[in-house]
Amino acid sequence: MDKDYTKLWLDYSKRKDMGNGALFKTISVFDFSNPEGFPVIQNALEELTKGAAGMLGVIPLVLSGDRSAESAGVQFPKGTLSIRRMEDLGPETYHVIEHEGKLHLHAGDENGVLYGAFEILRRIAMEQPLTGMDVTKTPDCPFRMLNHWDNLDGSIERGYSGKSFFFENDEILVNDRTEQYARLIASVGINAVVINNVNVKNAASLLITDTYFAKVAELSGVFSRYGIKLYLSLNFASPMEIGGLNTVDPLEPQVIFWWESKMAEIFAKIPNLGGFLVKADSEGRPGPFTYDRTQADGANMLADIVKKYGARIIWRAFVYNCQQDWRDTKTDRACAGYNSFKPVDGTFRDNVILQVKNGPMDFQIREGVSSLLGGMEKTNEMLEVQIAQEYTGQQIDLCYLMPMFREILDFKTYCGKEKDTVADIISGRCFGNKNTGIAAVTNTGNDRNWTGNDLAAANLYGFGRLACDLSLSPEQIAREWIALTYGNDPVVMETILKMLLESREIYESYTSPLGVGWMVTPSVHYGPFVDGYEYSRWGCYHRADHAGIGIDRTKEGSDYVSQYHEPNTSLYNDIRTCPEELLLFFHHVPYTYRLKSGKTLIQHIYDSHFEGYERALGLQESWKSLKDRLPLEVYHRVEERLIRQVANAREWRDQVNTYFYRKSGIPDEKGREIY
Ligand code: GCU
Repeated sequence: MDKDYTKLWLDYSKRKDMGNGALFKTISVFDFSNPEGFPVIQNALEELTKGAAGMLGVIPLVLSGDRSAESAGVQFPKGTLSIRRMEDLGPETYHVIEHEGKLHLHAGDENGVLYGAFEILRRIAMEQPLTGMDVTKTPDCPFRMLNHWDNLDGSIERGYSGKSFFFENDEILVNDRTEQYARLIASVGINAVVINNVNVKNAASLLITDTYFAKVAELSGVFSRYGIKLYLSLNFASPMEIGGLNTVDPLEPQVIFWWESKMAEIFAKIPNLGGFLVKADSEGRPGPFTYDRTQADGANMLADIVKKYGARIIWRAFVYNCQQDWRDTKTDRACAGYNSFKPVDGTFRDNVILQVKNGPMDFQIREGVSSLLGGMEKTNEMLEVQIAQEYTGQQIDLCYLMPMFREILDFKTYCGKEKDTVADIISGRCFGNKNTGIAAVTNTGNDRNWTGNDLAAANLYGFGRLACDLSLSPEQIAREWIALTYGNDPVVMETILKMLLESREIYESYTSPLGVGWMVTPSVHYGPFVDGYEYSRWGCYHRADHAGIGIDRTKEGSDYVSQYHEPNTSLYNDIRTCPEELLLFFHHVPYTYRLKSGKTLIQHIYDSHFEGYERALGLQESWKSLKDRLPLEVYHRVEERLIRQVANAREWRDQVNTYFYRKSGIPDEKGREIY
């Protein structure tokens, strides 16, 4: 039966066999034979069977046994895929090896089997031979999480793909789509999901009450069968909002007592709950600062209570003053996270994970890497990125984010350890912290194609793959995704690959280049409004005047640069060494300043916007060339987005260029039309 959504990269359609069919006559499972006890294995088996049938036309015979049969000398015939547990492989780890016409999938646990199965299926889909395969893999990040900003009324904060598929009119939905979603994200290695918005309000505050326990438990069951832990965003003010107390001071005994009994109730009612995500003291959300307590006081209070349930508290570092006076040019929002958290490094419990946005501002197309990454040595950290394209085109404009994530992961923090990149920190290799990982604010909704723009699914796929393997390149991920989604037509492959790989640079060039960010329409965050936030309370200013633009974060300015380790501090502090793509993020620069290209800053602004628009047109042309090679429905969906992208790029080009021409009075050297 046709469902009202697509299967994305798990659409197992016929592929070139490459001899792979011969390996799928039988699937034998050892050590995991009891279906009730190992639901994840059952799903892995179902997936392998479905995949073999769909892609290779083979329907394998599935047998199960225990190790005694094997030690009794049972010999597998050729064409057998044997699955078994190998304790020494460790959690979530698999080893897949082909040997003399037999395929062996060895795994440390159930998740290992599932991920190994998906690795095998990925190879088949990419038309690669399984013969000679020998791969061992442990996911690089222990926590690989998706954060949904879904509200119980069905809306999604910063959602660009329709409505929520978890919630509708204050009801929780559990249906085939939920199942398919779990399957989809498990296939790229996701092992944790937060189902509700970090801004916990209204009905969402009741998710931890009897009103919703049964349904949350059902949802949690669906996820657990795919090796995924369910988490809830928590309202720090719950003791007041639903408990009737008149304080939420984390050190108050009555508050602690309230949480103790609440948690006992929650964990009794919701099996497989991984823990909670908390946005406190942030954008109007309550938190420990209200009571003169530290962020650690707040997080630890909850962490101590949930510890006995094996759960975690994921505490967001997105703490800043959103009531800033724009006249105050000394306060810099970028400094706020570090100032709130660095002093309490080393005081967080082991089951607290600090979730840190990639930059110190808010998911702009380019920012410096957050100084908290590398700054907090003794605290578990999870990197937070946003694949919902709030500031990066809202799934209308094409913006493949893996190149950005790659740069962030490769950023050297110089924190004094040998392995000191962001990838090293979030994998635990750097400081030896155990509870580390990566989370993405996700980009899915109930649109038929899940992500609004079909091409935005590359960000969902890519995020999962990168979380498992932090060394993957944007190109490799894109190639995989294109092959799995559209098949192996080389023209389709090369055309979409080029579009994806250029898209971030293009988006950046027609919006807010050189790290200045913002300039978006307030609240909506799509489309240009150069001064939209300039005189607001949100702390995100560009400080443009007739002579120059940019935020002085040097030692002479807000001194944000000093939150980094050397040599990064000096590198950013000096305009001559500051990487130019971050020039206006760290410096206030005259329009007449010459960049390395020899161009003045103002000329660069003009050129970048004119070229960005042309390149957006180029994306449209590339897509047109694929018209006869793609399903018409897919073609039209993306075409429609590209038309809107071009219109958006034109608006950005003209508003930004006009604004800076009027401010500076300096004309474009090339005499192009500015208004
Ligand atoms: C951004 C976004 C908000 C969101 C916030 C957060 O500011 O615009 O919608 O709530 O980030 O990350 O908490």
